[in-house]
Amino acid sequence: MPDWTDHGLRAAEEPLQIVFSTEQIDRRVRELAAEISAAYEVRDRLLVLGFLKGAFIFMADLVRAITLPHQVDFLVASSYGPGEVSTGEVRLLYDPASSLEGRAVLVVEDIVDSGTTLRLLLPRLQARGPSSLEICALLHKRLDAVEAEPRWVGFDAPNVFLVGYGLDHGEDFRHLPYIASL
Ligand code: IMP
Ligand code: MG
Repeated sequence: MPDWTDHGLRAAEEPLQIVFSTEQIDRRVRELAAEISAAYEVRDRLLVLGFLKGAFIFMADLVRAITLPHQVDFLVASSYGPGEVSTGEVRLLYDPASSLEGRAVLVVEDIVDSGTTLRLLLPRLQARGPSSLEICALLHKRLDAVEAEPRWVGFDAPNVFLVGYGLDHGEDFRHLPYIASL
């Protein structure tokens, strides 16, 4: 029998350090969802727009804890190649099909690092006429002042490369139920 509790990490070359545990994440996601539920009204026709792939687990947990009726869509952008270094440009691989016109749009992002992804993508979303455009980021590295500051942040993150709970390193580690440093 495979040891499922190991999450396949014996294949990893170096041990991972847990930075945010499953319990910490659960608690914080519920707090964020409560704040978001209180910040919008039904008539805002909230659209929660997840940035894939990194936000997929956070998004799934967050929307299930938001008590206000809302709709869900995704946007696929890629700013990183196979490694750890940002390429400084963002490619849009999937554009949300949902209309943003006149709706409250809440962008859900896994982590704000240089802020490049949000800086390049938000104007494109803003151009579609949402009634409001806010960001909820699970993690924020607080490196430089970023142009597009999230209204909601899960955790301030240490300036190390993080994996798990959706975040990857070369597509590995996304499935971990906690956030760890490499
Ligand atoms: P930014 O454009 O530099 O703010 O980076 C945003 C994107 O880079 C995030 O959505 C992640 O996909 C990726 N990223 C940045 N830092 C990390 C990290 O520590 N671990 C995994 N992915 C990261
Ligand atoms: Mg990524």
